[in-house]
Amino acid sequence: MIYLVAAIAGMAGFLFGFDEGVIAGALHLLRTEFTITPVLEGIVTSAVPFGALFGSLVAGWLAESLGRRRSLLVAGTLFVLGAVLAALATGISVLTFARLILGFAIGLAAIVAPLYISENAPADRRGMLVSIYQLAITLGILGAYIVGFAFSESWRTMFLLGAVPGIALVAGIYMMTDTPRWLTSRGRLQEARAAIARVRDVDPQDPGVERELAAITVAAKTSGEQGRWSELLSPAVRPALIVGVGLFILQQLSGINAVIYYAPTVFKESGFDSHSSQLLATMGIGVVNVLMTFVGMALIDRIGRRRLLFLGFIGTALSLGTIALAAATSVPWLDTLAFVGLVLYIAAFAASVGPLPWVMMSEIFPLHVRAAGMSVASIANWGMNFLVVFSFPVIVSSMGLAGVFGLYAAVCAVGLVFTQMLVPETSGVSLEEIEQHLRSGRPFRSLGDRPRGQRPLPPAGGLPATPGP
Ligand code: BGC
Repeated sequence: MIYLVAAIAGMAGFLFGFDEGVIAGALHLLRTEFTITPVLEGIVTSAVPFGALFGSLVAGWLAESLGRRRSLLVAGTLFVLGAVLAALATGISVLTFARLILGFAIGLAAIVAPLYISENAPADRRGMLVSIYQLAITLGILGAYIVGFAFSESWRTMFLLGAVPGIALVAGIYMMTDTPRWLTSRGRLQEARAAIARVRDVDPQDPGVERELAAITVAAKTSGEQGRWSELLSPAVRPALIVGVGLFILQQLSGINAVIYYAPTVFKESGFDSHSSQLLATMGIGVVNVLMTFVGMALIDRIGRRRLLFLGFIGTALSLGTIALAAATSVPWLDTLAFVGLVLYIAAFAASVGPLPWVMMSEIFPLHVRAAGMSVASIANWGMNFLVVFSFPVIVSSMGLAGVFGLYAAVCAVGLVFTQMLVPETSGVSLEEIEQHLRSGRPFRSLGDRPRGQRPLPPAGGLPATPGP
């Protein structure tokens, strides 16, 4: 059942990737059909991150007041409406409006879906399950690249196909209950007990269910009233805010979306002459992105968040640095080097810097400010996403590929220092324990630091580590 939860919420991730990536294949058709200016082109393209910014602004409030489940239903409905409207668009303004709706749905779902998964998942598999969300994003990006290739003559078909996963999301979520944690925070304990039993596939009378409910209830009580956004700055929450927001800023400024959106351009700049070879190389990037996300999922609960982040930032810094160096010295085999460098960059990103901010965002905030904290972290994500995608062509034209990749490599090096100094280890620690640690006033970074052998990780398949009776 827990995998069903993850699969349904993962559909939201697929839509995220699909609606971002689909414009790449559609743009050249739109250019001929509507004779759009570069400014208009920019507006249509950026309508998605712009809408997402608004979606993430209201997501926290919606997730609290409507609940996680109904918020996902709203997002799913908007995904379908947006896709149909985009496919029927008679002009650029209607298309822009449709993409604003899709962006809004992405921003909303990008917060609520990981929250929905993490609040349903046992502690020892939470990281892996939330990374399913990241996997779904990468599958969505690849799906959009494939659809752009297969229906290269019809942009309407490309957009319309986005309605299919939208319908699946609505149908799937409709059959599920809300999360035990949200139900508990509303005092709906019977439903919470049933929800725990359902996702764990056990009887509601099972002692494990009672234990888990007790732990959630304690956390909900000690959390008190729903926190306001200003509470995110309180001493007990600020460390989580810094880690949540910081990881997304680093993730985006590592240049990922310059690669995702502009991969064909990058390949063109580095010597891939034909359009088909650029597209083929781009597909290669899409495939590596998906495959390496599996590697990240296998490692995230096993070697821990911090170690995986270190590996990711080292890998991204080295690969980006290599591309920058090669471009600066104009080596004759720049095309090969750029391809290998980008493959290594995507590999390191997909296994680590991609999924980890999503995983940690969904687990580090105390329950009463969790939705608000995740909103702020997501706003940082979309804001920086915007910045990178807009600035890339400008920076390339002034500093060249070497300059822009050098800049991104430097950001990844900063990521190493950030991880060392501020990021805690949360793998195998229950959400309630994370919250207790923040309240204790001890440095957030010291969470998860324990002498070897003192506190083993919970056994695979077990219930979250909760305080004993
Ligand atoms: C990022 C997206 C990015 C995607 C690429 C995600 O973790 O948040 O901005 O497009 O990874 O796979």
